[in-house]
Amino acid sequence: MSRIAFVGCGGIQQVHYQRLAQIDDVEFVGQCDVDLSCAERAAQEHGGAPFDRPEVMYDAVKPDAVFIAVPPYAHGPAEMAAIERGIPMFIEKPVALDKRTARSIARAVSKARLLCSVAYCFRYHDTVRAARQFLKGRPICLVSAEWRGGLPQTWWWRRMECSGGQFVEQTTHLVDLIRYLCGDVAEVYAVGSSGCMTALPDYSVHDSSVASLRLKNGAVASVASTCVSEHESRVALHILTPEASVTFSDGRVAIREDGQITERLPQADIYLAEDRAFIYALRSGKRSGIRSTYADALKTFLVTAAANESMQSGLPVRV
Ligand SMILES: NC(=O)c1ccc[n+]([C@@H]2O[C@H](COP(=O)([O-])OP(=O)(O)OC[C@H]3O[C@@H](n4cnc5c(N)ncnc54)[C@H](O)[C@@H]3O)[C@@H](O)[C@H]2O)c1
Repeated sequence: MSRIAFVGCGGIQQVHYQRLAQIDDVEFVGQCDVDLSCAERAAQEHGGAPFDRPEVMYDAVKPDAVFIAVPPYAHGPAEMAAIERGIPMFIEKPVALDKRTARSIARAVSKARLLCSVAYCFRYHDTVRAARQFLKGRPICLVSAEWRGGLPQTWWWRRMECSGGQFVEQTTHLVDLIRYLCGDVAEVYAVGSSGCMTALPDYSVHDSSVASLRLKNGAVASVASTCVSEHESRVALHILTPEASVTFSDGRVAIREDGQITERLPQADIYLAEDRAFIYALRSGKRSGIRSTYADALKTFLVTAAANESMQSGLPVRV
């Protein structure tokens, strides 16, 4: 039996409750939220005892692992308390809001050699796996990425000091995919715009941004993001090599080579796949199924933080 506790009982955690319930021998033992009423509701609906402080929950229920899904500004205490107690962690992206918190968690995870998986769920698409295989060893020339969608409704998302803005909070999935498929990022130059969402009184994130990335292998990438596109959403990535191209679009992958296009539709439930991989690693000690470790997710976070720094300074930022 795997005894699982939860920190943050909001939107995305509902997805994990549902997916974990599909895995044999998983028991929910603790629910923790700063808003105790959320923890109580989760406890009633999904099981486990409610708490409003992670360290109290860890000591009371002694879980085998914890799923941490809090807004970017709230990362740190739940992770450090889990690491001190040797509790393996599944953490929602992005790993933090600031570099100091992310780096100190990364150091502590590495020192403790703790199992830790970060929820870069796109990596669990079977289509992405096929694209990665296809691109292996091929030179990358040009990458173009786009995240177009509406403004998420949680109160903290629209505040820069809570979410880090769209690039850190959302576009991070695409930056991570670029890193996973094409290689690490060396430098970022980004610009942002704001002022289109005039009906919203309390927002401070950019409406839209464009970032240029220089990869360590010499390739270049452009990443355009907007959260002012309620009417039209798209999450897509196009990768060009000298002989072929790969297009990722909302889970689908199309590979064009020698004038032929092979299209693959996503088959896997990516949330179930990432949860299964974590539970398998927890039980077996074999971590090879984890597609994003904390150290890897830190690298993605540092690229997005560099983009924010560049938007602010107007200068390119080395990662
Ligand atoms: N991988 C994905 O596809 C995906 C999808 C949605 C959200 N997310 C990520 O999950 C995280 C949470 O997003 P959400 O949509 O669930 O937000 P949410 O606001 O719906 O839920 C967050 C919960 O955390 C609680 N909380 C805040 N600070 C806390 C603390 N210090 N300790 C304990 N609980 C705390 C809040 O009270 C709230 O109930 C975000 O970082 C987001 O990027 C990932």
